[in-house]
Amino acid sequence: MSVRPILVFGDARLEAANAPVESFDAALASLVDDLFETGWQAPGLGLAAPQVGANFRLATVDLSVGKDPTQKIVLANPTITETSGKISLEEGCLSFPGLFTTLSRPREVLVTAQDEHGEPFEIEASGLLAQAICHEVDHLDGRLLVHHLRGIKKKMFLRRVDKMRKTEVWPAQPNS
Ligand code: NI
Repeated sequence: MSVRPILVFGDARLEAANAPVESFDAALASLVDDLFETGWQAPGLGLAAPQVGANFRLATVDLSVGKDPTQKIVLANPTITETSGKISLEEGCLSFPGLFTTLSRPREVLVTAQDEHGEPFEIEASGLLAQAICHEVDHLDGRLLVHHLRGIKKKMFLRRVDKMRKTEVWPAQPNS
């Protein structure tokens, strides 16, 4: 397992198209391990493959941040099939280090996905788990925090991004 650099907003790979996971092989297992380890180290509740520059429909979620192996969730090719309710929540993202904003999320979601072996499964999630899953599925569609914002709220968020870029909290981009 290894910790990989997390790409920050502005890197084109965060908004690129992500290919479906088709080979549930050793390379995928290794990428999954790296996603967990990189997420734990950050620390964060989840990480999507495009955030480490791997443009696949793959993400990991672990609300325990490495403390409880039973909470590890691998989402390969996830689809949110049903949603219910709406709630306004504060949200951050490892690709926007140090920044938070409020946005609207469903209260409950039904999600189908495949695990790291390609086995299909379904999760019914609410609360923080629903939020984390929606956040990661957004990443797989190239949808980032900023894309949820409109008008003045978006403008102000982007101004905060510009300020953060000048700090050490935002790592310099490799290769860009
Ligand atoms: Ni994120």
